Amino acid sequence: GTSPEGKELNGKRLLIKREMPLTPDSQLELLFPAKVIPLDVKNALDKSLHIRPLASTDYKRGHLSVLSVLSIVVDPGEEEWVEQFRAQKAAPNTYYTIVVLDRATDRIVGVGCVFIERKFLRGLGKVGHIEDIAVDASCQGKKIGQRIIDALTRISEGQGCYKTILNCSDKNIPFYEKCGYQKKENEMAKYA
Ligand code: ACO
Repeated sequence: GTSPEGKELNGKRLLIKREMPLTPDSQLELLFPAKVIPLDVKNALDKSLHIRPLASTDYKRGHLSVLSVLSIVVDPGEEEWVEQFRAQKAAPNTYYTIVVLDRATDRIVGVGCVFIERKFLRGLGKVGHIEDIAVDASCQGKKIGQRIIDALTRISEGQGCYKTILNCSDKNIPFYEKCGYQKKENEMAKYA
């Protein structure tokens, strides 16, 4: 959107349009309420950036292209992307996917998700699984990844999870250690 800005020139009032590309949260359909992301996590972010829940129109803001730095992305087209958004939204208190946007362009520069698992163990305890963390190649090394992990960890703890866990490559261990995580046990996988 744009906002008109008043300016005086030779006694005449000119209207100058100042570009404000970031779409306000209030104009979006979000995956979960924005207030779930703690304010101090929002405030720690560089002022040129904005953090919020995934929105139903984020296909257009480069969501899949940011994810492609992480793994193979097959573009399903916008319609099926929105269907996946709806399926996540239909399972309330379960999927917390967040995005970081460049305010100047309204494009996504970072993504991450915490999936909340409900257990029978630990007095019907909950575990947060951090998944699919990616920062656009041109924006890496600016603390965006760390802010995403802080936000997801706080969301997980805020939802009552007794632990938050994730899998990563050896290469990314130092990054997660800087975010306060410790190596524990091993990952096993069986691909179909
Ligand atoms: N090795 C050593 N240190 C690292 C590494 C690394 N590979 N990556 C980041 N760090 C350090 C940074 O130097 C920084 O240290 P500092 O606080 O001393 O300055 C600190 O960790 C925080 O780094 P950020 O700037 O927040 O990292 P960035 O925004 O680049 O995000 C990420 C890190 C997510 C790994 C990003 O580089 C990325 O998208 N990589 C490709 C995709 C990927 O591997 N994603 C993670 C998969 S694991 C999962 O999804 C659960």
